[in-house]
Amino acid sequence: MASSWLHLLLLLSFLGMNLPVKCDTDEEDTLLQGLNKYRRSLNLTALTKNENAECFADEMTDKFKNQPCTNTTGANTVPGTEPGFSDYPDLLSKCHLNVSNTRDGSVMPACVPNLVPGLVLSNYTMSQYSQSLNDTKFTGVGIGSEGDWIVVVLTTSTPEGSFVPYNAASLLSKISLIHHLLFWFIGALLMF
Ligand SMILES: *[C@@H]1O[C@H](CO)[C@@H](O)[C@H](O)[C@H]1NC(C)=O
Ligand SMILES: *[C@@H]1O[C@H](CO)[C@@H](O)[C@H](O)[C@H]1NC(C)=O
Ligand SMILES: *[C@@H]1O[C@H](CO)[C@@H](O)[C@H](O)[C@H]1NC(C)=O
Ligand SMILES: *[C@@H]1O[C@H](CO)[C@@H](O)[C@H](O)[C@H]1NC(C)=O
Ligand SMILES: *[C@@H]1O[C@H](CO)[C@@H](O)[C@H](O)[C@H]1NC(C)=O
Repeated sequence: MASSWLHLLLLLSFLGMNLPVKCDTDEEDTLLQGLNKYRRSLNLTALTKNENAECFADEMTDKFKNQPCTNTTGANTVPGTEPGFSDYPDLLSKCHLNVSNTRDGSVMPACVPNLVPGLVLSNYTMSQYSQSLNDTKFTGVGIGSEGDWIVVVLTTSTPEGSFVPYNAASLLSKISLIHHLLFWFIGALLMF
């Protein structure tokens, strides 16, 4: 009896650990592979996934998802003139980000009916976005998609584009404190 309870507890904690992790959709994975193939063809390093950029990309797609694709949406627009960019700071704060750590990043939305993979990729590699994808300063990426919309967020390795949440440092020290306490506790148990 006791062991089945233990099993249930283990299962629950396992599920709990996995809940906040949002699975990437096929469209996102396909696009990331395509983008990195493009980077490789230009002798650039592959973009690594950045969770916080992905959080922000998800928030952006959430904003866009109800807008239909037109010739003034997505890759066809002049960057920064997207409707919906006005509440940018609000969206950033939802991911514990602010302009200080995202300024150098690049946010690139595209609208492609049914997110046809080939068209999605060419909307990035064959539009003005290719200049960002071709830039060595970008090292990380987060992708969000919903409906016909897909948003790519590029991050840099500098503090101004790192997308490191402003409370990450304090969170990290809390975790290490817990580790210390646990260590001490187990050590004490072993002594007696
Ligand atoms: C990439 O590197 C290879 C080998 O160093 C070279 O032959 C090729 O021209 C380079 N391509 C570009 C786009 O720089
Ligand atoms: C967008 O489409 C409309 C109508 O189809 C057209 O009048 C307009 O010139 C187009 N704009 C651009 C930038 O292609
Ligand atoms: C962003 O957050 C950092 C750390 O909390 C703070 O120092 C900085 O002033 C903030 N920047 C803006 C523009 O709010
Ligand atoms: C981007 O996607 C649209 C469909 O929304 C397509 O008509 C257009 O040709 C694509 N642009 C590029 C450069 O691939
Ligand atoms: C990428 O950038 C390099 C150097 O900045 C340039 O030579 C090359 O033509 C660019 N390629 C594309 C596809 O924009």
